[in-house]
Amino acid sequence: MTMLEKAVAALSTKGYLNLEIPKGINLIEEINKMRKEKNAIILAHYYQTGDIQDIADFLGDSLQLARAAEKTNADMIVFCGVHFMAETAKILNPTKKVVLPDLLAGCSLADSCSGEGLRDMKKKYPNAIVVSYINCDSSVKAESDIIVTSSNAEHIINSLPKEQEIIFAPDRNLGRYINQVTGRNMILWDGACIVHEAFSLERIAQQMLDHPKAMLIAHPEAQKPVLQVAHYVGSTANLLNYVVNDENQEFIVATEEGILHEMRKRAPNKILIPALTIDDTCNCSECHFMKLNTMEKLYLCMKYELPEILMDEDIRVKALRPINKMLEMSKAIK
Ligand code: 13P
Ligand code: SF4
Repeated sequence: MTMLEKAVAALSTKGYLNLEIPKGINLIEEINKMRKEKNAIILAHYYQTGDIQDIADFLGDSLQLARAAEKTNADMIVFCGVHFMAETAKILNPTKKVVLPDLLAGCSLADSCSGEGLRDMKKKYPNAIVVSYINCDSSVKAESDIIVTSSNAEHIINSLPKEQEIIFAPDRNLGRYINQVTGRNMILWDGACIVHEAFSLERIAQQMLDHPKAMLIAHPEAQKPVLQVAHYVGSTANLLNYVVNDENQEFIVATEEGILHEMRKRAPNKILIPALTIDDTCNCSECHFMKLNTMEKLYLCMKYELPEILMDEDIRVKALRPINKMLEMSKAIK
């Protein structure tokens, strides 16, 4: 049984999966009350739904959230994001309770790579160090030398010796982009984000023709052809800052749609156009894993302090080392 299956089994034994929300309650008031009573902090990623972003104590991208999790004095961390993010918070805070509103909030990138698979790859390149994107599970982190996020990957790779052989896991698109901007030749794991890979160059090109003044901005998890035509490539937080600070008024945004909520708040006069994806019958630019968390599940999760993130102590200790290395090496990044 995997850790996830064990946790889901534990939840159904406790009856958690059948719990109902009392009729007529005000979710926002109840969540606020519990946050105080339980000394809890709600951390949310920019890809969460707007209502969750609005109620969070701290909203950020992967790097900002890892830093917030490292710093907090709260007794309980309520992580509104996906499983690998909540796991990172637990790795940094072994004595604190870390809960995630929906335990099934996974990630296609994290699912593409296992600790065992990475161990096999390392055998083929015995002189290589492993740099892993934070979008991976604790078993992959435990096999890695340094963790990076999209905000600090370029900076960290640039600070490694030029001749150092590097395996980069699990995102082939971010890895290829970092190879291009740093002039490296890292060996890439073949994983990808289903959301960022869904953007269609053809349809975006049409959007650019329809909106000739718009800047195309893209996350480095997107594929090479989209990044090649983008006016700006950056992590979620950097895309947000770009929209707020750039003098242009119109932007085609090629990343997960949740970020538009904060962009609209911080830059209310700018025109934001979500980039189109290959299939217009789906909401492909929404991460369905991220959207599994809802206000109702957030309420239940805070009330029952479940589902809780639990992990093997041996793996946790091994996974902590490369995360700490990242935090140390990226102090200069805001
Ligand atoms: P960042 O938060 O580092 O931009 O990563 C985006 C992402 O896909 C998170 O899952
Ligand atoms: Fe994973 Fe992509 Fe969703 Fe981020 S947007 S959590 S990388 S599937």
